[in-house]
Amino acid sequence: MSEQMGTSIVGLDVGTSRIVAARRSGGSAEYGSQLNAFVSIPYSKMTENSLHRESVGHQIQGDTIVIHGNEAPRFADLLNLEMRRPMTQGLMNPAEIESVPVIRQIIESLVQSECGPPKVCFSVPAAPLNAEDSLTYHDATLRQIFSDLKYEVRSVNEGMAVVYSELEDTNFTGVGISCGGGLCNVALSYLSMPAMSFSVPKAGDYIDASVAGVTGDLANRIRIAKEQSFCFNGHFAGKLQQVLTVYYDDMIGSLIAAMQEAFSNSRRMPKLKRPVPIVLSGGTASPKGFRDRFEKQLRASDLPIEISEIRLARDPLTTTANGALVAGLAEM
Ligand SMILES: Nc1ncnc2c1ncn2[C@@H]1O[C@H](COP(=O)(O)OP(=O)(O)O)[C@@H](O)[C@H]1O
Ligand SMILES: [Mg+2]
Repeated sequence: MSEQMGTSIVGLDVGTSRIVAARRSGGSAEYGSQLNAFVSIPYSKMTENSLHRESVGHQIQGDTIVIHGNEAPRFADLLNLEMRRPMTQGLMNPAEIESVPVIRQIIESLVQSECGPPKVCFSVPAAPLNAEDSLTYHDATLRQIFSDLKYEVRSVNEGMAVVYSELEDTNFTGVGISCGGGLCNVALSYLSMPAMSFSVPKAGDYIDASVAGVTGDLANRIRIAKEQSFCFNGHFAGKLQQVLTVYYDDMIGSLIAAMQEAFSNSRRMPKLKRPVPIVLSGGTASPKGFRDRFEKQLRASDLPIEISEIRLARDPLTTTANGALVAGLAEM
């Protein structure tokens, strides 16, 4: 009710794999999500009409029809087409000509509100450790889309969004980690202030592609099998489980090595008075046993800060969107 009276505020996680929107409704948060992917099929009036009747999200682009979001995998499978992705490794893909209209459509479908243009707080990844800041194109393009849609926006670092979502009990002090499709994003927060953040370009897509390289399957098939049945169970249920475990371990190892390196930079580190928690979130952190595996590798490493506990976020797939909403509600 109150939302219809005022401007609504939306937290938006613009991820390589999925775009997730969070808004407050009553006392709790409400989520919507769409796969950040599309397929493109030749235009015909009959196909257009059928898609319309089935309420399948699509748009006409010249002589093709673009089907985006959650419907994309079904059509890709049905028509034996490769699914295309507007983003790669956490950023808008400048080489994909359809990326801007597709992302715009997905955002519009998730954010639309009945009470005028909403205010949107969207997540942005951090630059990779030791790499030049490569976010300019991504950030400017998203802002252009929002400006065309007449949304008022601000952005929040993705790792910080994890902290805002999950670490109210430590007064927003601790490490937020989002393990997504293209990137793992890490932020160290001290009393809600960002002390440092970086990304690691190894996450779910890296696991899928690496496993596919070993087994000879398509990466998309590996992704589906991974999402449906992978867990760390300590013994190998089959070849695929074993290969997935190898690359999951590889990814966790790279993430921890990057944390070790970043947190050793004493010039940028806040002087923490007590041990701080780590929160793990994102689709790649969801398989059963991930937290334990991460903890085991972390305990074996020698991280230059003291960790009080390692938690899995309450709902790993919506953490970033929820944190962006928390930031939006506080700041906008
Ligand atoms: N249940 C699951 N088990 C394992 N991996 C999953 C699961 N659900 C999603 N993923 C993987 O998580 C990644 C996407 O995570 P997400 O947090 O949505 O990423 P992004 O922020 O990059 O969009 C993909 O690699 C996907 O395959
Ligand atoms: Mg994400």
